[in-house]
Amino acid sequence: MTPLTLNIIGAGKLGKTLGRLWQQRGVFQVQSICNRSEQSARAAAQFIGAGTACREIDAMADADCWLIASSDGQIAPLAKQVAARLAPRLSRRSDTVVFHCSGALGSEVLAPCRPAAIASAHPVHSFADPQSSLQTLAGSSVALEGDAPAVSMLQRAFTAIGCEVLTIAPEHKALYHAGSVFACNYLTALLDLSLRTFAAAGIERIQALKLLKPIVLQTAENNLRLGPEQALTGPIARGDSETVAAQLRALENTDARLAQCYRHLGLACVELARRGQLPDDAAARLTELLSEPTP
Ligand SMILES: NC(=O)c1ccc[n+]([C@@H]2O[C@H](COP(=O)([O-])OP(=O)(O)OC[C@H]3O[C@@H](n4cnc5c(N)ncnc54)[C@H](OP(=O)(O)O)[C@@H]3O)[C@@H](O)[C@H]2O)c1
Repeated sequence: MTPLTLNIIGAGKLGKTLGRLWQQRGVFQVQSICNRSEQSARAAAQFIGAGTACREIDAMADADCWLIASSDGQIAPLAKQVAARLAPRLSRRSDTVVFHCSGALGSEVLAPCRPAAIASAHPVHSFADPQSSLQTLAGSSVALEGDAPAVSMLQRAFTAIGCEVLTIAPEHKALYHAGSVFACNYLTALLDLSLRTFAAAGIERIQALKLLKPIVLQTAENNLRLGPEQALTGPIARGDSETVAAQLRALENTDARLAQCYRHLGLACVELARRGQLPDDAAARLTELLSEPTP
C-alpha cells in the first residue's frame, strides 16, 4: 500500500524524530519540510532521509497529513498560514489531517484549518537527544484528542512505531498535561531542592548526585510498582513529628525558600500517609507543624 504523505512545519527535535521513524517504517512518505531557516529544514531532511526543504509554507506540496511541530507559541500563527495554504484545495481534500504535538494546547488551536480534521498528539517522552529517541520512543505513551478521522489516522501511525496510544477529552487536556508536569518537571525541581539542601550541609554536588542515584531510582521503581501509598517511607509516614520539627528548624535557619517547599510537600505527604497507616491524631500534629505560621 502507498504510504500517506506528510508535511512537517518545524522539524526540530520532535518533528525530525517522528519524521524519520515514520519514513523508515513506511507509515508516511515525508514530503515537504519548512523550518524557520531553510538550512535547518535541509538538515532535518538529511536526518529523516527524505523530504524537500521549503522556504515558506506556500511552497509546500499537497499532503495527506500536516504536522506543526514548532514551539507552542508559534502553533496558532502557523495554523493560520496552513489554513490559507489549504483553503483552495480543501473542498476536494476534506480527508486532510492537521495535528500538533504540544502537551499544553488542545487541537482547537488548529480550528482555522477546518474542514481538515484536526488533532493534538502528545508523546510522553523527552526528545532532548533525537538520535537516542529513535531507539527509545517505542513503548512511550501518546495522548490523542481531536476529530475522529484525525485521531484514528494518528492512532495507526503512532502504534506502527511502537507507541501506546490513549485518547483524552479536549476539556481534560490541561489537567492531563499538569499530571505529566508534576511527575517530570516537578521531580527535577525536587532533585534541585534536595541538592541545595545537601550543599547547605556541606556535601559536594558530585557526591550528592552519587548518593541520590540509587535512592531516587529505587523510590521511582517502588512508586510505579506499589503505588505512592505503599511506597511512602520516612518521618511523616511514621508520624515522627519531632524529626519533622528538627528538620524544619534546620531549614528555616538555612534558607526560607527550602523551608517553605518542605512545608508544602510535607502537607502533601501527610495527606498521602493518611490514605495509608497514619493515625488521625499523628496526622493532625504534623499538619499543624507543617502549616505556615500565622503572621
Ligand atoms: N522536546 C520534547 O521533548 C517534546 C515532548 C513532547 C512534545 N513536544 C512538543 O513538540 C513541539 C516541538 O518541540 P521541539 O522540542 O521539537 O522544538 P524544537 O526542537 O525547538 O523545534 C522547533 C522547530 O520549529 C521550527 N520553527 C519555529 N518557528 C517556526 C516558524 N514560524 N515557521 C516554521 N518553523 C518554525 C524551528 O525551526 P529552526 O530549526 O529553523 O529554528 C525548529 O525546527 C512543541 O509543541 C512541544 O511542546 C516536545
